[in-house]
Amino acid sequence: MSLFVHLHSLIILSFIFITFFQTKPHSSSSSYIRLPSIQSISKPVHISVTDYGAIGDGIHYDTVSIQSAIDDCSAGGGGRVVFPPGKYLTATVFLKSGVVLEVQNNATVYGGTRLEDYPTEQNRWYVVLAEDVEDVGITGGGEINGQGLEFVVRFDERKNVMVSWNTTGACSGDECRPRLVGFVRSRNVRVWDVHLHEPAYWCLHLVQCDNTYIHDMSIYGDFNTPNNDGIDIDDSNNTVITRCNINTGDDAICPKTYDGPLYNLTATDSWIRTKSSAIKFGSASWFEFKQLRFDNITIVDSHRGLGLQIRDGGNVSDVTFSNINITTRYYDPSWWGRAEPIYVTTCPRDATSKTGLISNLLFVNISATSENGVFLSGSKTGALSNIKFLNVNFDYKRWTSYEDGFVDYRPGCQGLVNHSSAGFMMEHINGLEVKNVNMRWVGDRVKRWNNPLDFRPSSVDNIALINFQSSSYGQQTS
Ligand SMILES: *[C@@H]1O[C@H](CO)[C@@H](O)[C@H](O)[C@H]1NC(C)=O
Ligand SMILES: *[C@@H]1O[C@H](CO)[C@@H](O)[C@H](O)[C@H]1NC(C)=O
Ligand SMILES: *[C@@H]1O[C@H](CO)[C@@H](O)[C@H](O)[C@H]1NC(C)=O
Ligand SMILES: *[C@@H]1O[C@H](CO)[C@@H](O)[C@H](O)[C@H]1NC(C)=O
Ligand SMILES: *[C@@H]1O[C@H](CO)[C@@H](O)[C@H](O)[C@H]1NC(C)=O
Ligand SMILES: *[C@@H]1O[C@H](CO)[C@@H](O)[C@H](O)[C@H]1NC(C)=O
Ligand SMILES: *[C@@H]1O[C@H](CO)[C@@H](O)[C@H](O)[C@H]1NC(C)=O
Ligand SMILES: *[C@@H]1O[C@H](CO)[C@@H](O)[C@H](O)[C@H]1NC(C)=O
Ligand SMILES: *[C@@H]1O[C@H](CO)[C@@H](O)[C@H](O)[C@H]1NC(C)=O
Repeated sequence: MSLFVHLHSLIILSFIFITFFQTKPHSSSSSYIRLPSIQSISKPVHISVTDYGAIGDGIHYDTVSIQSAIDDCSAGGGGRVVFPPGKYLTATVFLKSGVVLEVQNNATVYGGTRLEDYPTEQNRWYVVLAEDVEDVGITGGGEINGQGLEFVVRFDERKNVMVSWNTTGACSGDECRPRLVGFVRSRNVRVWDVHLHEPAYWCLHLVQCDNTYIHDMSIYGDFNTPNNDGIDIDDSNNTVITRCNINTGDDAICPKTYDGPLYNLTATDSWIRTKSSAIKFGSASWFEFKQLRFDNITIVDSHRGLGLQIRDGGNVSDVTFSNINITTRYYDPSWWGRAEPIYVTTCPRDATSKTGLISNLLFVNISATSENGVFLSGSKTGALSNIKFLNVNFDYKRWTSYEDGFVDYRPGCQGLVNHSSAGFMMEHINGLEVKNVNMRWVGDRVKRWNNPLDFRPSSVDNIALINFQSSSYGQQTS
């Protein structure tokens, strides 16, 4: 039976959670996907927010109606809270155990744009927030919209200047805006068949969750807006992301560790476009990241493809990237990223930071067209170890007019450093195997950048190059 058939029958059974099960894979690429546990919601109750007085005109706040519907649904043993077609403006609503929000086609839930629409504590600023709950989800085919453009103070195609609610003292700097959807300390979370649009800040945020399944959904954020990350996964275990479409300004899939480790994250069968990093580890990296798999992902038009920005002492190990196509290009340098298709770095963020170790990475079946090369950089106090590349193709060419010739250590560390481009730029590595690699330089504009391998300084040990090809093409084929 296919995965789709499984899912479909589960949906018909009105989102029944049963214990852990292993589906038969619908394709080879998903053979290691473990679906989250699904446990019974006692009644297939459907409650409409309109029965609780929601107006759905996009002008009046429907917060109280929505919250009452959720509270009653949860108190009655769980079920679905339905949003029929309409525009539902709301302050923060709290999702409760056993409740699935069903935002139907042509229904949009709009987050408020006023500070008073959100709780006092800055870490609870979300349009939809689930805290300490189980068996919850969002689906229905409709949209949740953070009205992110209302938070732009000045539009700038390099990078928008955003509102900051920092005068409240709740937070400082320019990253004081509400997130869109948050699941905090929750278990058995499922988000599918829903569109998350225009977050003012991060879009979908998991914090200390276990058993999360995000699939068949889309995220759209303004391309020039900073910090509108797609999916941020903090300190969470057993997360599956599959068949998602993410098109946004900031990092698309972003595992982080602030207060605890992150284990078992799988992301597959997805499409990503971002002005920042498509996959990014960190930069918050205080604890371990282990057992992460990324498979069958297409990355287009992005500033960085697969990125590890380890800065705070947490270690990364056992990570596989397979069957991934990447196109990376330069954008304004105010965004982290220098068009690297693959970027693996660990360095202490500042003088007080420790160095996290990165080991056991496998890159297999990767194909990239990019304006810069691969950057692999351990640090003096922690070399990268056991890094493997197998069956990889890199086409290097230049098509934007941004300046090249920089190595990007941001955030922290050495910052942006002048250094000529190379196919692979490597430092502080002990154990690298590169097998079946093809590098091609295309066009005239790569003339001062035809150095396939750059070892710097002589801090690279135990490299095996097997079947390595490097060639240059005068004509821009494009
Ligand atoms: C949604 O809106 C479109 C365009 O207005 C309409 O054609 C369609 O029937 C609507 N669908 C539902 C489920 O209301
Ligand atoms: C508040 O945000 C503004 C706008 O981003 C920024 O210029 C300013 O430095 C911030 N102030 C504080 C105290 O963080
Ligand atoms: C994830 O698993 C690790 C190891 O078992 C555990 O220490 C941590 O608390 C788990 N995190 C969550 C959010 O369950
Ligand atoms: C990670 O997944 C494996 C099965 O693949 C499981 O045995 C292990 O308990 C999981 N780790 C955590 C922390 O949940
Ligand atoms: C790869 O993902 C795409 C969706 O992005 C899907 O259509 C395709 O079937 C997947 N390929 C494999 C081999 O699973
Ligand atoms: C990558 O490109 C190759 C060649 O065009 C194609 O066969 C493959 O399906 C693509 N894979 C992904 C994940 O986009
Ligand atoms: C990272 O690994 C090193 C070496 O095993 C260990 O000393 C250190 O405590 C680990 N760091 C964390 C945050 O677990
Ligand atoms: C890599 O690609 C080859 C040829 O397309 C395929 O046989 C192999 O299974 C792929 N490896 C992985 C780990 O997906
Ligand atoms: C870096 O390179 C740019 C342009 O090539 C040059 O203007 C600048 O002076 C260099 N900076 C340093 C610190 O060498």
